[in-house]
Amino acid sequence: MLFRAMLIGTLLIGPALAGTAAPPADSEWARESYRLNCAPCHGARGEGLDPDSDQYKTFRAPPADFTDPMFTSMEPAADWFLVTKYGGASIGLSSQMPAYDGAFADAQIEALVAHLKTLADTSGYPPGELNFIRPIRTIKAFPENELLLIHRHTEPKEGGDARKSTLYYAQRFGKRQQGEIKLAYLDDDRGSAIDEAELGYKWAFHHHLERTLLLTTGLEAELPIEDDSAPNVYIPYLSFAKGLFETTTLQGTLRSHLPDDGIDRGDLELSAILHWAPSPWPRSLAPALEVTWTAPFTGGVDYETTVIPQTYFGLNKLGNVALAVGVELPLSDQSYDRRIHAFLLWDIADGPFWAGW
Ligand code: HEC
Repeated sequence: MLFRAMLIGTLLIGPALAGTAAPPADSEWARESYRLNCAPCHGARGEGLDPDSDQYKTFRAPPADFTDPMFTSMEPAADWFLVTKYGGASIGLSSQMPAYDGAFADAQIEALVAHLKTLADTSGYPPGELNFIRPIRTIKAFPENELLLIHRHTEPKEGGDARKSTLYYAQRFGKRQQGEIKLAYLDDDRGSAIDEAELGYKWAFHHHLERTLLLTTGLEAELPIEDDSAPNVYIPYLSFAKGLFETTTLQGTLRSHLPDDGIDRGDLELSAILHWAPSPWPRSLAPALEVTWTAPFTGGVDYETTVIPQTYFGLNKLGNVALAVGVELPLSDQSYDRRIHAFLLWDIADGPFWAGW
């Protein structure tokens, strides 16, 4: 009952404030507006409500803690703008989060979201605005909590097709680090088996929100399981993510494959990808073009170039479940005609797989 009265109160206060002559959308206004409109459900400091309170018990999904720097840094302001303007349901969250469209002008909603961003001390955490779309080959710079099912289908020039399925789990820790583990299952002419495991570590060592730039370095180790004679391969890399225009992002990776049975069997690989994400909504389509260039350490000029047109789809409203498909086409002489890539991604930090549809 109390909750109901509060909700009605909120709906009344909203238009009342918006009705006053051109209220300034500055931080002072946002602080006061937060206190009046948002604090009844989000808590005075954004910490949420006391779980023993009556209001709290009416929440189907209690609001997250805005004072938690990991959470608040991770969420892009643009997503919070959508939630505040169009309500929780618009993005697959609870409909108990009201829509303020009409009650507040866009500039006011931006000021409110900017205020939410001040509720946690997020210094040192890479901001979610720099969390760009996951590419197929280029290594993502942003540290994530994600589970992926990755599939690669190779059509070689000679012999039968090869299918590689990889289960990938990434876990964020500290302000800017991530650990990961992969298990790959290979199915080809020679049979099928769990072929290799991979361990990885990533450190997002530099970010700059105004320049929309994120720089990351990391090391991956590929450890063969099936074939005892195969070498371990170590892969140090450097990745970047750079926003170009409002709807376009550029990401790239420079990495080296270093087999422990001889560095001369290794290579240097550069890849880059341009994504175009025209829609602000997570459930949308983002086409991309990726190129890779690999130079073997054996010398000579027999480096490999490939191009991978691809598309990323947010499958649910929340966008934490997504699918990407692409086809890799060699532009130089290579052992295969084409490779089809796909992955299904679940961003665990953003919510359960089944929520947000
Ligand atoms: C009637 C209660 C209520 C009021 C008033 C309210 N919210 Fe919410 N809000 C919620 C609930 C509940 C959620 C959690 C939704 C979920 O996780 O499914 C939420 C979630 C949010 C989120 C999304 C956070 C995330 O999980 O990414 C934002 C942003 C937000 N609210 C902003 C605001 C702002 C700004 C105001 C004031 C202008 C406001 N809310 C007022 C109930 C409310």
